[in-house]
Parts: sequence; structure tokens; C-alpha cells
Amino acid sequence: MIVLGIETSCDETSVALVDDAGSVLGELVYSQTVHSRYGGVVPELASRHHIRKLYPMTRDLLESAGVSYDKIGAVAVTAGPGLPGSLLVGTTFAKGFAYPGQKPIIAVNHLEGHIFAAKLACPGFEPPFLALLVSGGHTDIVMVRRWGEYEVLGSTRDDACGEAFDKVAKILGLPYPGGPQIQKCAEGGDPQFINFPRAMLKSGDFDFSFSGLKTAVLNLVYRMGEDDVRRHLADICASFQEAVVDTLVGKLRAAVSHCSTDRVAIVGGVAANRRLRQVASQQGWKLCIPPIKYCTDNATVIALAGAFHLRRGEKTPYDFMINPAWRLSEKLET
Ligand code: KG4
Ligand code: ZN
Repeated sequence: MIVLGIETSCDETSVALVDDAGSVLGELVYSQTVHSRYGGVVPELASRHHIRKLYPMTRDLLESAGVSYDKIGAVAVTAGPGLPGSLLVGTTFAKGFAYPGQKPIIAVNHLEGHIFAAKLACPGFEPPFLALLVSGGHTDIVMVRRWGEYEVLGSTRDDACGEAFDKVAKILGLPYPGGPQIQKCAEGGDPQFINFPRAMLKSGDFDFSFSGLKTAVLNLVYRMGEDDVRRHLADICASFQEAVVDTLVGKLRAAVSHCSTDRVAIVGGVAANRRLRQVASQQGWKLCIPPIKYCTDNATVIALAGAFHLRRGEKTPYDFMINPAWRLSEKLET
């Protein structure tokens, strides 16, 4: 069966086709550029651009893959967590697409989609494993007991770590999204220039906090003044990035010894970070970090997760609602 995946939870519009064997027949991602001038995602604009893009992208996807409407067996769509307006665009489009052919719909949790990137990218990498899920909206350590069975061991208590990258980039005058900008700016910088705080590393749990780190950068920038900040921009970026990576890997190390597993997947947009990939690969873990295009938001992993649930005989009634705060360990209320 061919599954059409649809992802519109934030500022990426994406559609993809996967088959029963998990092969990718086609995938398209449009990263909305309109937000960069605002220094962050503007929800209303995100919804409008999803509306504009979804139909032509789906038409182009089917055409280029040579797949007709009749050959599509089901539709998998992100129903949360994410921006309410953006989720409504994707799910309403999915319903309209599925209804004429009475195709089953499966509502997929966006976070589960990120975890399924490991299934796609690392064949043979099977549960149980620990997943570090690091994105613009989430920072979670998740025990994946089986595909479809998740226990969240810890989460951020304030900012997500991708959000910290984005906010610190804004403080430093770098454009949105901040993660890739800070990574680039950090090249050649001294990661020991400032010893930024590694919050909650010794808290004894698996939670994170990044708001103090953001404030520490803000205070430093006020203290140093514009000229010094400009001169030491690479050093500040490198020191900030090092503090985030130390914190993430430190917590993962604690989770690995707590759970007696050495299998670790790092997924979500921040998993694209080169320094994080480098430090994680030095830990002696059996590690899966998907290629960048499957770390950032994409419909391919949504289609894969949907196909998995469909194989288990699950489907979602057509009148399902989105849940902008859908937790990984919960079922979607329908
Ligand atoms: O998973 P994702 O595409 O969207 C959400 O579900 O949030 O993650 C986006 C986040 C943004 O905060 C972005 O700045 C961050 O991932 N990001 C990075 C890198 N590439 C993207 N953070 C650090 N280093 C990167 N190379
Ligand atoms: Zn995401």
C-alpha cells in the first residue's frame, strides 16, 4: 500500500509517498522563508503559506512519482503537537484528499515522526533504545521500548534547545532559524572563551533548562558592548554551542547508564548540529543520527509512522481533531 504523508505542524510544508516496504517513492519539503525577517515563526503567516503550497506540492509529488490518486491507499497526517492553524491546514487538506476515495486516514504525532527517522535512516536499529528528541519546540529524552511505545524520561522545563539556538541568534543579530547560523558562526571560534552555565547537569533527573543559558548570553552581550561582541562573535557562538552540546550529551550519558542501554538515537532539527554529532559519536554508543533532511521537519517520517500504525490495523475517524499539545505518551482523543 502507498501512503501519502503530510506535515504542516510549523514552518515546513512537506508531502511524501512511502510504500509497504518502507521505500520512499517521493518527498518534497518547502521551508517557509517569510519568517526570517521577523526573527521567528509568525503562526498566521505559516498557516497561509501552508494553504498556498499544499495543493501544488501534492500534485507535483504524485506527478513526479508517477503515482495516481487511485494507487494511494491511505493518508498519514501530523495532528499535533504544533501550531494550531498550521495543523488545521494539513489535517483539513488530508481529509479532503482522503474522502472522495474513502481512503483511511491516520493521525500521526509529530514527535513520533521524528523518532521514526531512526527507522528510516538506520536499518537494523531497533528498540529498545533511547531517543534524544531535540527540536525548536521540544527537548525530550525518550525510552523507546517498541515502535509505538514511548516513555518520556525527561523534558525541558522552559525553552526547547532549538528555541535557545534561535533566541540566542536573535540576540547576536543573526537571522532565523538560528541553529544553522550559530553553527556556522562558531566555526573557528574558541569554545572555551566563556564558560556558560550547563544547567541541571547534576539535578539527578533527565530534565533540561535552557532559559538561564539564553539570559547568560544576553547579559554577556550587554556587558561586552557592541564592538567587542562583533570581534568575538565566533567565540561567543562556539561557547554557547559547546554549553548546549555538553548539557545534551551529559544528560544522555546519565540516561544511558540509568537504562542500561548503549543504543541512542538523536532526532529532531537540532540533531543536524555538527558539534552535537561529533561529541555524541565519541561516547562509544551504538548511535543513530539520521541525515539532516530527516532530522528537520519532513513528511517522509510522518508517512512511515502512519504506515506502521496502519499495519497494526489502526486508523483515525474522519472527524478527528488536532491536538496542538499532543503528548507522545498519549493517544489522540477523537
Ligand atoms: O525539528 P525541527 O525542524 O522543527 C520543530 O519541530 O521544531 O527543528 C527546528 C529547530 C530550529 O530551532 C533550528 O534552529 C534547529 O532546529 N536547528 C539547528 C540546526 N539546524 C536546525 N540547531 C542547531 N544546529 C543546527 N545545525
Ligand atoms: Zn519537528
